[in-house]
Amino acid sequence: MPRNIVIVGAGQAAAQAVETLRRKGYADALTVIGEEPLLPYQRPPLSKKFLAGAHDAEHLPIRHRAFYDEHAVTLRLGLRATRLDPAARTLALDDGSTLDYDALLLATGSRARRLPLPGAALAGVFTLRTVADVDAIRAAATPGARAVIVGGGYIGLEAAATLRTLGLEVTVLELAGRVMSRVVSEPVSRFFEAEHARHGVRIVLGAGLAGFEGDTHVRAVRCTDGSAHPADLVIVGVGVAPVDDLARAAGLACDDGIVVDEFCRTSDPHIHAAGDCTHHPSLRYGRRLRLESVDHAFEQATSAALNMLGIETVHDRTPWFWSDQYDLKLVIVGLAQGHDRMVLRGDPASRSFSACYLRSGELIAVDTVNAPRDQMAARKLVAARVHPDPERLADITRPLRDCVDSGPRAP
Ligand code: APR
Repeated sequence: MPRNIVIVGAGQAAAQAVETLRRKGYADALTVIGEEPLLPYQRPPLSKKFLAGAHDAEHLPIRHRAFYDEHAVTLRLGLRATRLDPAARTLALDDGSTLDYDALLLATGSRARRLPLPGAALAGVFTLRTVADVDAIRAAATPGARAVIVGGGYIGLEAAATLRTLGLEVTVLELAGRVMSRVVSEPVSRFFEAEHARHGVRIVLGAGLAGFEGDTHVRAVRCTDGSAHPADLVIVGVGVAPVDDLARAAGLACDDGIVVDEFCRTSDPHIHAAGDCTHHPSLRYGRRLRLESVDHAFEQATSAALNMLGIETVHDRTPWFWSDQYDLKLVIVGLAQGHDRMVLRGDPASRSFSACYLRSGELIAVDTVNAPRDQMAARKLVAARVHPDPERLADITRPLRDCVDSGPRAP
């Protein structure tokens, strides 16, 4: 049993690990190092209600400071861990101090990718990942301002919807031939493109970026076809990269994230990792993967904390993700990569429908749009690896859960 646990990172996974460790009776030293000067907070509202100004900063923390005080958690916020020495079991911080640990949890998350293009450092070019990012965007997001959003993924489209609602002129420049191509199939992409167009967002597909123009402040975004899109502010939402620098420099196995096993163990026996930063096995899908998901951070951090206390726990959960755009709730259950058949359930024109993905007859994922009942059923069905009848899947007069005779087993 460790006597001195240190957690690097102060996001969703770190907050959840703290809760689990204390709930399971771990009563010794517990320290959390966080680069941002804030208590661990929820990121999902950042591109939605917080950007809209409908959600105050005091609603963002996962737990208030009193929780950490009552649970004797030492928070060292506004500090970066700069060097990890697994042999000595020490961690150096950027204030010059060094910490010892018996057991370490890396919960370093992911960071917004940036584009190494001319003008990327101009004022008015933002990423959207932190409270500080959104504070800066909000200051620039005055009604009537022209916002150019680079990337039509989750962040780009959620920001587009929010800024449009705030009265900005919004253009989305997406490199691929359709929006959200990383996560949904073509009919779902086309549905969201039409919804954004209906709200007055201009989406340019196949947009290659040449650079950002302006003297000190951005004025326009230039594309490789020569077109220029006037901009008072730019949000770059082109994906995230796992923060694995510390682990990599320390010699831990890394491969698009910190490599862990199903027990959340890294290649060092005293170090576990959880959340966006990990590259982990999925028993459900039979391959290793990296997930950007709140639910995954929550569940994997719970498993990691239990394993750190010697309570063997396999982390294996069917992933799910959500996105809110206007009055639309998109919930993605499972991973559709590798599907060989897609069955639409309902008519996208009704603004409530689902897309079901099959591989060799097995239901591997379901996207639902404003379809909460399908969503709940999908979470059980996808986890239970059912082989549904495609005709029944498409039949919206029958509940999704009835697409197999026996009904799903509990996950
Ligand atoms: N120009 C234009 N578009 C680009 C470029 C580029 N140079 N490079 C990538 N893109 C597009 C991709 O084609 C993709 O559609 O940017 C989009 C990025 O979408 P996501 O991968 O979903 O990433 P993002 O929207 O940044 O969200 C990152 O944040 O909301 C959280 O965890 C959630 O996974 C999500 C993460």
